[in-house]
Amino acid sequence: MSLNKILILGSEGFIGLHVIQKGIKNGYQVFGCDIVKHSNIEYNYFNISVDTNAFCTLLSEVSFDCIINCAGSGNVFFSIENPIQDFLLNVSNVLFILEAIKKYQKSTKYIHISSAAVYGNPETLPIKETSLISPISPYGFHKVQSEILCKEYAQLYGINIFIVRPFSVYGPGLKKQIIWDTFQKGKINKIIELSGTGNETRDFIYIDDLTDSLFHLIISKIESFEIFNVATGNEISIKYFLQKLLQHLGWNHKLLFNQTVREGDPKFWKADISKLSSVGFSSKCMIDDGLSKTAKWLLNEA
Ligand SMILES: NC(=O)c1ccc[n+]([C@@H]2O[C@H](COP(=O)([O-])OP(=O)(O)OC[C@H]3O[C@@H](n4cnc5c(N)ncnc54)[C@H](O)[C@@H]3O)[C@@H](O)[C@H]2O)c1
Repeated sequence: MSLNKILILGSEGFIGLHVIQKGIKNGYQVFGCDIVKHSNIEYNYFNISVDTNAFCTLLSEVSFDCIINCAGSGNVFFSIENPIQDFLLNVSNVLFILEAIKKYQKSTKYIHISSAAVYGNPETLPIKETSLISPISPYGFHKVQSEILCKEYAQLYGINIFIVRPFSVYGPGLKKQIIWDTFQKGKINKIIELSGTGNETRDFIYIDDLTDSLFHLIISKIESFEIFNVATGNEISIKYFLQKLLQHLGWNHKLLFNQTVREGDPKFWKADISKLSSVGFSSKCMIDDGLSKTAKWLLNEA
């Protein structure tokens, strides 16, 4: 069976828009829905309200081979300040989506974007999908709850569900997190003050690699219910990553790590991606290439 008709929920967000573009490029019939439309990318767009029945209304009218949920909120610090809003986006909304799928599209493939935040601060690296779940932020806890909902709908109602746990995603269009903060601070000060020591590590994945991984899952023949880490398997320090960013921006700014630990920030992350590799994924974008494209976008459009 070929899966041709795909729906992206949250199609105007950072990840959603990149998935839309990759889907068009790969020859899929691409549909998207969001509560806003600000891009000028042309695709079959549905404006959706925040109403609890909105997904039922949409899914009762059009059927899709695959639905990818990029509609959650992806921001640890927002979740600390706004736990209720984060819960509504990352948990309640997922229940509304799963109910709509159960009622109207039981044979669709649902790909749920969770997060590596479910792991918190793991004791050993690399992190496997079977590693201890131990979130350290409301965002991480809410992602765990969304995953439990997915498991419920897969086990009780036979919905075809795959969960992905992206690590630190970056690329053009991302107006939050460390790259964005560094760029904004650097626009007004030659000394860029950041939390932490700079020696914390992340497994950074360029957005194009992340969208590739989703399309590997769309065509994969594996059976529901499965969870996949989405990363490159490489651990690099935040200091090294940001120094590279400064080089690509052409800035001679200084990074000043103030040694404070930000609530919700994990220390060391490196993913085991052998499960994702088994469905054909391999990371294609080197850090320099990804940061060069990101810096270009920051300088020209952000
Ligand atoms: N960006 C990252 O680094 C990252 C890393 C790991 C996981 N994720 C996860 O990926 C998903 C997408 O993240 P993002 O960074 O693209 O977020 P984003 O905030 O850029 O995009 C989310 C989009 O969802 C839309 N939306 C909100 N409510 C909606 C609703 N009821 N119906 C339809 N659309 C709605 C928003 O308008 C927005 O366009 C999130 O679940 C996030 O937790 C992101």
